[in-house]
Amino acid sequence: MATHSMIIPSSSSSSSSSLAAASPLREALPLFTKSLTFPRKSSFSRLRFRFFAENLSQLHSSNGCPTNFASLQDSGDNLTEEHVTKGKSTLSITVVGASGDLAKKKIFPALFALYYEGCLPQDFSVFGYARTKLTHEELRVMISSTLTCRIDQKENCVDKMDQFLKRCFYHSGQYNSEDDFAELNIKLKEKELKEKEAGKLSNRLYYLSIPPNIFVDVVRCASLKASSVNGWTRVIVEKPFGRDSESSGELTRCLKQYLTEEQIFRIDHYLGKELVENLSVLRFSNLVFEPLWSRNYIRNVQLIFSEDFGTEGRGGYFDQYGIIRDIMQNHLLQILALFAMETPVSLDAEDIRSEKVKVLRSMKPLLLEDVIVGQYKGHSKGGKAYPGYTDDPTVPKRSLTPTFAAAAMFINNARWDGVPFLMKAGKALHTRGAEIRVQFRHVPGNLYRKNFATDLDKATNELVIRVQPDEGIYLRVNNKVPGLGMRLDRSDLNLLYRSRYPREIPDAYERLLLDAIEGERRLFIRSDELNAAWDLFTPALKELEEKKIEPELYPYGSRGPVGAHYLASKYNVRWGDLEET
Ligand code: BG6
Repeated sequence: MATHSMIIPSSSSSSSSSLAAASPLREALPLFTKSLTFPRKSSFSRLRFRFFAENLSQLHSSNGCPTNFASLQDSGDNLTEEHVTKGKSTLSITVVGASGDLAKKKIFPALFALYYEGCLPQDFSVFGYARTKLTHEELRVMISSTLTCRIDQKENCVDKMDQFLKRCFYHSGQYNSEDDFAELNIKLKEKELKEKEAGKLSNRLYYLSIPPNIFVDVVRCASLKASSVNGWTRVIVEKPFGRDSESSGELTRCLKQYLTEEQIFRIDHYLGKELVENLSVLRFSNLVFEPLWSRNYIRNVQLIFSEDFGTEGRGGYFDQYGIIRDIMQNHLLQILALFAMETPVSLDAEDIRSEKVKVLRSMKPLLLEDVIVGQYKGHSKGGKAYPGYTDDPTVPKRSLTPTFAAAAMFINNARWDGVPFLMKAGKALHTRGAEIRVQFRHVPGNLYRKNFATDLDKATNELVIRVQPDEGIYLRVNNKVPGLGMRLDRSDLNLLYRSRYPREIPDAYERLLLDAIEGERRLFIRSDELNAAWDLFTPALKELEEKKIEPELYPYGSRGPVGAHYLASKYNVRWGDLEET
């Protein structure tokens, strides 16, 4: 198999605006970068398509996706490039690291859900790739035992599962072996062949569900030996994208030897969560919110993540990263960027991502004095013993890795000057949840001041966006308690998803996989966003490690270290989640 030259085009989005075959530069690219492109359709058309498809499917099926792509092809300008080709292309999805936890628990179930919902093209195949020797049948058995996704209670699930499993294949190989990827290529081609004869394009999606130290090897081998010759080739990568600015920059540089920016889909699964996606809708399509969305009315913003279990089974990975890198630098910071960005020019992926970069670049890097760290210790409750972090055999006994952190961050721009954005993330806490809390300022000259005694904080409005569990949005308002007196209380205007939308919410991975297949980049992280995110955290992370700052211990199942309260009170803030419980 011939290798291909490594000329890499500029990563600007304009590369997708011309027909690949017409460009001499494109001719010189390695096959991996030779994705067939179409005149660019904006994300807005994609969104319109999704909207259209959902409505259409409501007419024809109960699925979230259209069941008959052919009929969609007739529907004119609502269609995007992907849908135009959907009936004319084959899709292979190769899950590299197929026997890993993420693949088993999230990726295969999400692919099955997409298949069940009719969101995958007619001609698709799924390949598992890993070092373990398995037959196709053994892979199928492995997948079927973990397909406990939201679909499993649905009608015809068993039949659909059988049909799905028939499309699943396995190839065992080393992650750094070009020969093994060349063999994978032969198998992929076999599946594509009959469709190619009918003039179909073969699109290939790789999902790298592997440790980051082998990303580049896999990308190199797949790029040189197993990329699509006439369709697109895309690669989804999961964090961690490095440990700091330097290592992340190096990773990006290495990946870009083989891929263009357009081919890299850096996933942050929090961006695929329903309520996070809804954040922009809430802000930009409701007149009542956007005028309030600034330092003039907002006192502070809190981004809170908690898990009620420890690092069970993942201590080895976690100990190299810690909670700041695992949750704050990506999941919470991405939410912050969406929350705080200016109105994008359009819903196009590049417009949105550019606004996110702007807000990240306007932020002050985190200072050591604005962060506190904690680590959970063993604890017994109700006769049950809960292990401490360092009781995990894969964690060094004297590890200083934080399993909890709270941080205060600031955005130096006209909209947010002086408003603390407080983040808090921890494992082995008393509850599981993720939420955004927006605390508004006091009402100036409040006529009902005396009803709140001296604690005016209790009278401020608070908007809570509960990402999980039990998705919901509620606004805390002051209200008169009915009766002859004048007693006030705080009540919630409550949008509880399970009552308002009594249907299952797709898993974040379903949305993101579908977006990657459709070439929709809005919910994926661009390299300049990633750099900006690391620049905010790298100095404090370095200092924490160099100064060997001891984390404050907190008992497993508690509310976390008391230092988090001191940090918040330094900025006159009270954690909303703790006030509530
Ligand atoms: C991952 C982290 O990114 O997100 C894990 O590496 C964490 O440590 C997980 O448990 C949480 O995701 P979710 O979707 O379960 O909230």
